Amino acid sequence: MAGELRHEGPVGRVPNAYALIMLGAPGAGKGTQAREVSQALHIPAISTGEMLREAARQKTAPGLIARDVMDAGGLVSDGLVCSIVEQRLREPDSAGGFILDGFPRTPGQAQFIDRLIRDGWHVEPVAINISVDRESIVKRLTGRRVCPVCGSIYNIYLNPPRLPNHCDLEGTPLMQRADDREDVIRERLLHYDQGAKPLLDHYRQGGHLIEIDGNRPPGELTKAILRAIRSV
Ligand code: AP5
Repeated sequence: MAGELRHEGPVGRVPNAYALIMLGAPGAGKGTQAREVSQALHIPAISTGEMLREAARQKTAPGLIARDVMDAGGLVSDGLVCSIVEQRLREPDSAGGFILDGFPRTPGQAQFIDRLIRDGWHVEPVAINISVDRESIVKRLTGRRVCPVCGSIYNIYLNPPRLPNHCDLEGTPLMQRADDREDVIRERLLHYDQGAKPLLDHYRQGGHLIEIDGNRPPGELTKAILRAIRSV
């Protein structure tokens, strides 16, 4: 775990401020939805996967450790992930709420973020669990392509760019993530299956869980998520 918390986050309740926690299997659409909801609610979307990949691109020591684990489909240590999340949440743009995409994934991470929110942020935690059929998940992951510049997410089968293999916004060639190979996908799904239940139980027991059927087009899914959040 990261070291002792220094409670430098904004103290005091911010009305209608949320800590949205996107849960769901790899490929469920957490990243796609986090970007849309972020724009709709004007709060930052914070992806631990993206931060770890950036650290690996920068070849920092933690980034290189994380890269080997990610490329094998495993989970990066709680200590490393919690410390990058805490650091990111102390940026001023998180003061009015934030979206966590891909965090927490273990009971240790869940306890860490509970404590951080309770002692520093005082925003309303809401976990959104996006469920998608396993068959669709594999298609979503093997077909995913991302823009290396702006991070836009496409799918060659389900949501192709206008010009094949080029970002609609940047015009740059799209990339396939190193962990979107079938053997690595199997490993990632295995880790997800092992870890999902305790996390879902944690948020269900706290009365903070919203279940969302992710087997529908992205736009419809965004509307359903926003409706559910606003009804909390
Ligand atoms: P991370 O980057 O978080 O990957 P993930 O959880 O496996 O999730 P994905 O990003 O693969 O999928 P997604 O649900 O965001 O789907 P997306 O919207 O892209 O983590 C990567 C690795 O980092 C982990 O394996 C681990 O090693 C490490 N890591 C990260 N966080 C960690 C943590 N907290 N602790 C320890 N280790 C950690 O969509 C997928 C595809 O589907 C796209 O092509 C998209 O266009 C398409 N799509 C999306 N929505 C729809 C829809 N509604 N209909 C049709 N297609 C859709």
